[in-house]
Amino acid sequence: MGKLHIIDHPMIMHKLTLMRDKDTGAKDFRQLLSEISMLMGYEITRDLPMEDVAIETPVARMAAKKISGKKLAIVPILRAGLGMVDGLLSLIPVAKVGHIGLYRDPETHMPVEYYCKMPPDIDNRIVILADPMLATGGSASDAISMLKKRGCTSIKLMCLVGAPEGAKLVMEQHPDVDIYIAAMDERLNEQKYIVPGLGDAGDRLFGTK
Ligand code: PRP
Ligand code: URA
Repeated sequence: MGKLHIIDHPMIMHKLTLMRDKDTGAKDFRQLLSEISMLMGYEITRDLPMEDVAIETPVARMAAKKISGKKLAIVPILRAGLGMVDGLLSLIPVAKVGHIGLYRDPETHMPVEYYCKMPPDIDNRIVILADPMLATGGSASDAISMLKKRGCTSIKLMCLVGAPEGAKLVMEQHPDVDIYIAAMDERLNEQKYIVPGLGDAGDRLFGTK
């Protein structure tokens, strides 16, 4: 079974509280999401393998640590996942970026696929799948399936706010995927929005409502 990592660092909790506030505008919402993504990226990359490399400092030779193994890719789920890309790239500037387009049907709340573009060697990379909201889990679960269909075997799901229903679905359908999330909220409402949540992440990020 995949692990659920709650990344409740005080800096992240403080910034998330500002994001949740309904009076926070798009500019600050975007900035805060980017900052939190960078901080979460620090935890998500904690278990990357390292190797010793021989270097020479101005003082002496030494065996120094370097990240080894597979390279990374960041894959946001459009639209709201886009808000997490810059923060992650500031930490991992050499990562490649793929995009998955999914929207929730307003009636059924089921995800509908409309776009997918991946780096050619995506199957050989550790993928950080980024989406701030994990509600029913349908979008994240379908996105993971799309990545697996393209050969990905190492996937980490990074979200900001989730509901227990969403985490349960992803863990059941993809037991090989770890979930990294800042807060697990109480529940979903009838419209399948997270309660208390932060509203519609895409609309708040891009000012579309
Ligand atoms: C939101 C969010 C997730 C999805 C989560 O996207 O960014 O992708 O809903 O819901 P789920 O867990 O129930 O699938 P939305 O469909 O609103 O699209 P948008 O980002 O383009 O606004
Ligand atoms: N998508 C959002 O943007 N917010 C929610 O609460 C649920 C799905």
